[in-house]
Amino acid sequence: VGSEKINTDIITLTRFLTEEQTKHKEATGDFTLLCHALQFAFKSIAYYIRRATLINLTGLAGSSNTTGDDQKKLDVIGNDLFISAMRSCARVRLLVSEEEEEAIAFDEHPNARYAVMCDPIDGSSNLDAGVSVGTIFGIIKLPEGAKGTKEDLLKPGTELVASGFTMYGASAQLVITMKGGSVNGFTMDNALGEFILTHPNMRVPKQRAIYSVNEGNSLYWEEPIKEYVNSLKYPQEGGKPYSARYIGSMVADAYRTLLYGGIFAYPADKKSPKGKLRILYECAPMALVFENAGGQAVDSKMRRMLEVVPEHIHDRSGIFLGSYDEVQKVIDTHKKYA
Ligand code: AHG
Ligand code: MN
Ligand code: MN
Ligand code: MN
Repeated sequence: VGSEKINTDIITLTRFLTEEQTKHKEATGDFTLLCHALQFAFKSIAYYIRRATLINLTGLAGSSNTTGDDQKKLDVIGNDLFISAMRSCARVRLLVSEEEEEAIAFDEHPNARYAVMCDPIDGSSNLDAGVSVGTIFGIIKLPEGAKGTKEDLLKPGTELVASGFTMYGASAQLVITMKGGSVNGFTMDNALGEFILTHPNMRVPKQRAIYSVNEGNSLYWEEPIKEYVNSLKYPQEGGKPYSARYIGSMVADAYRTLLYGGIFAYPADKKSPKGKLRILYECAPMALVFENAGGQAVDSKMRRMLEVVPEHIHDRSGIFLGSYDEVQKVIDTHKKYA
């Protein structure tokens, strides 16, 4: 054997989920089976993303979705793959997808106790440029006797039992967190076809001089945001300016922020008064990840993101998330305008 010790105690996502389940005595295994179906959805979406250019799957589908986004062919395929995986596991009652106008009720599974929200392909406007995209998901457990209507979904992110996202980049990464739990990162081993635990117990650094925002919108920003961003670019007392990093795929900007620290912001502004990112399948799932990793996530009114309740399933919100101290700076700047 070479000098490095071969790791023969590999923790796959499957093993991780089994170990998680044994922590809950009353567990029926339904959540575990749901996550296995999620795992397959990620693998199949990753497969098509990586082959898209080769089999003419790049480009537009020629349709647009409820929130006005032009749908890429891969948005539609990712959506169909996700819906099939969630329907066939028979553990999901209700599904909200960015690419579906209405919530999908799986009436063939009336006793299924989970609802799933998903953004099948996040960052799809970057797809044809080969930039990292991913899938964002959230899982809630329906209350006893729920009828499986969309009202069951209009809940704050504090109701999430789990959330996370994948990023189909240099390798396929998965970040997942359970309510009240830690954040764990997995890397796809293509030879094994398994997600392998590579980043156990991820913690977002408490502060980092990196800011991630689309400055192309600064004409529309409200005063507090302008003051806050300028304080990073033109620091008082000759401090060092922050570094700017903006990929334009939330999953990629979020993954970097989770690993390196800093702040990601998509403020509500005069052009998008309710913000651009969608609460159920972008803001809330990411907020749970960052809070469980020791960071913060707030909306444009500085409310805790996980307490924001959407009125409609595609409702949007402004969002600031990342290092605890960096988000605190935004909150403190807003206090001066209160
Ligand atoms: P989606 O591709 O799922 O529609 O999401 C796109 C979002 C998000 O990925 C990213 O943070 C944001 O759009 C970028 O918006 P701008 O191009 O306006 O900066
Ligand atoms: Mn979109
Ligand atoms: Mn998205
Ligand atoms: Mn999307």
